[in-house]
Amino acid sequence: MTDRDAVHVQQHAQRVRRHLQGQVAAADGFLAFDRYMQEALYAPGLGYYSAGARKLGAHGDFTTAPETSALFGACIAAQCEPVLRTVAQGQILELGAGSGRLAFQVLRHLADRDCLPQHYWILEVSADLRERQRELLSTLPAPLAERVAFLDRPPEAPWRGVLLANEVLDALPCEVFALRPAGLMERGVGMDAAGEFRWQERAAPAALAQEIRRLLATLPEPLEPDYVSELCTRVAPWIAAVTASLVQGIALFVDYGLPRAQYYQPDRAHGTLRCHYRQRAHDDPFLVPGMQDLTAWVDFTRVAEAADDCGLEVLGFATQAAFLLGNGIESLIAAAPDGVARARLVSQARALLMPDQMGEAFKVMALGRGWEAPLAGFAHQNLLNRL
Ligand SMILES: C[S@@+](CC[C@H](N)C(=O)[O-])C[C@H]1O[C@@H](n2cnc3c(N)ncnc32)[C@H](O)[C@@H]1O
Repeated sequence: MTDRDAVHVQQHAQRVRRHLQGQVAAADGFLAFDRYMQEALYAPGLGYYSAGARKLGAHGDFTTAPETSALFGACIAAQCEPVLRTVAQGQILELGAGSGRLAFQVLRHLADRDCLPQHYWILEVSADLRERQRELLSTLPAPLAERVAFLDRPPEAPWRGVLLANEVLDALPCEVFALRPAGLMERGVGMDAAGEFRWQERAAPAALAQEIRRLLATLPEPLEPDYVSELCTRVAPWIAAVTASLVQGIALFVDYGLPRAQYYQPDRAHGTLRCHYRQRAHDDPFLVPGMQDLTAWVDFTRVAEAADDCGLEVLGFATQAAFLLGNGIESLIAAAPDGVARARLVSQARALLMPDQMGEAFKVMALGRGWEAPLAGFAHQNLLNRL
């Protein structure tokens, strides 16, 4: 980074800090954590996803599966194929497309199989990332590039096909709670005299308290006092909104997460909130606000409940490794043109498949509407009974 860049970064960090300080002050000194996360990630022109820094890939803050290997997109495309071949005028809708890499891979692969969707829609909250996606996808051959369209909101007219969301659920702002001897608390952000952000707690407002009680009632083991974790009440309305007009097809959500009973285990007493900055993960959301990603693991039982509530069927739940194996990752590697290319793919596949990398922590959940045929991604493993 040049000196000039460093100064620019410092100035930007200061602007974000001032904005967040203003938000805390406007909330009378207690900004609920979900609102802090919303502002730190998405405040227009300031938030982590809304401003210009490079986020994804080896030179950014974290690396997602499509940034790791084109094998990921090829397997996702393989899962889209039977749906696109079955429904009339099939579409793909990708939510939160990051650098556009997954869209690029999926379109290339589907073109090779002569199975392109009518459109590849992208719904992205970040204006900055939308520009990057547009730039990358404009390098596709014209018959592919012209299928890409950017949406400002979920489609209103009924549509058929596949909805994709890789690492988007974990980026939805979440509430943080604590079980204290005195009762159910909400955690939020306050400031000390120097304007530094500090965790603060208040009695959980009625709706959140009810949600925490509902959650606790479904757990197999009671949780000890001083247990801190998070929950994401935005999941249900978001899933309802983005799938509302899908009349036939599937929705694939890929993310790091767990079924509820494992997520809220007694020994995970500090929650799953993580921050990513320059390829390092830490747990201080106040360290470099606006410059770092904030995420929380996904409670996939909550996703399944949200699906039930809006008339979607939970078709499959598996580890990323099982899903990719079911979609032919091994044959894709075997089809590499030569030994050098094969060795490169093997090394990339390790990152996607190995249990100590992305293979186990990442899960894939498929929801469906008007879709009954089995999906290859869940042929090896279907963990629906764990939800
Ligand atoms: C962790 S990145 C993942 C990017 C990409 N899917 C990948 O796998 O490389 C999260 C993405 O979701 C987007 N995003 C977050 N909330 C969103 C929402 N409510 N609707 C659409 N996109 C959203 C972010 O701007 C970003 O593009």
